[in-house]
Amino acid sequence: MSAEEYFNLYKKCVDIESIQFSLEDFKRFQKSTNVKIEREQNCIAILGLTVREVEIYFIGVAESLRGRGLGKKLLKNIISFSKNYGADFIILEVGINNIPAKNMYLSLNFLEHGIRKNYYRNSSGIQEDAIIMKLNLKT
Ligand SMILES: CC(C)(COP(=O)(O)OP(=O)(O)OC[C@H]1O[C@@H](n2cnc3c(N)ncnc32)[C@H](O)[C@@H]1OP(=O)(O)O)[C@@H](O)C(=O)NCCC(=O)NCCS
Repeated sequence: MSAEEYFNLYKKCVDIESIQFSLEDFKRFQKSTNVKIEREQNCIAILGLTVREVEIYFIGVAESLRGRGLGKKLLKNIISFSKNYGADFIILEVGINNIPAKNMYLSLNFLEHGIRKNYYRNSSGIQEDAIIMKLNLKT
């Protein structure tokens, strides 16, 4: 898939006020060995890879198809990938008010690991705390 196709899928799956990545970012991601993009037809995830951890930078499902299990399926694929990759844990930040995402992570045994105050600022300038969530893969 080209960077343009990934970017178009991302735009379908992200809420407009939360857009954080550009086409240029996707071009960079494709060249990077430290970024992996997982995707299905209507969902996409962007993962940051370091030696012992996988960080979920973004996961999203096309708005009209949410609530049908697609996000959880993609997250299960990310967990399998991360185990095969040899990561000790998966880590991410989620907006404190993002109940669907938070529930999705909790449903696959991610645990809350702390708070980052005023971590997000959306396109309207509204700030939001983030919860750090972590799934330990080695216990
Ligand atoms: C978060 C997101 C990826 C979830 O994907 P989804 O396909 O809608 O979720 P699923 O249907 O797979 O549901 C997975 C779990 O999430 C929870 N969930 C999903 N939608 C929910 C809602 N509207 N309210 C509360 N919980 C919800 C449920 O606990 C569900 O678990 P269960 O099946 O065991 O009941 C999707 O809502 C999305 O794309 N949101 C916008 C982007 C975003 O905020 N990404 C997170 C960035 S950290």
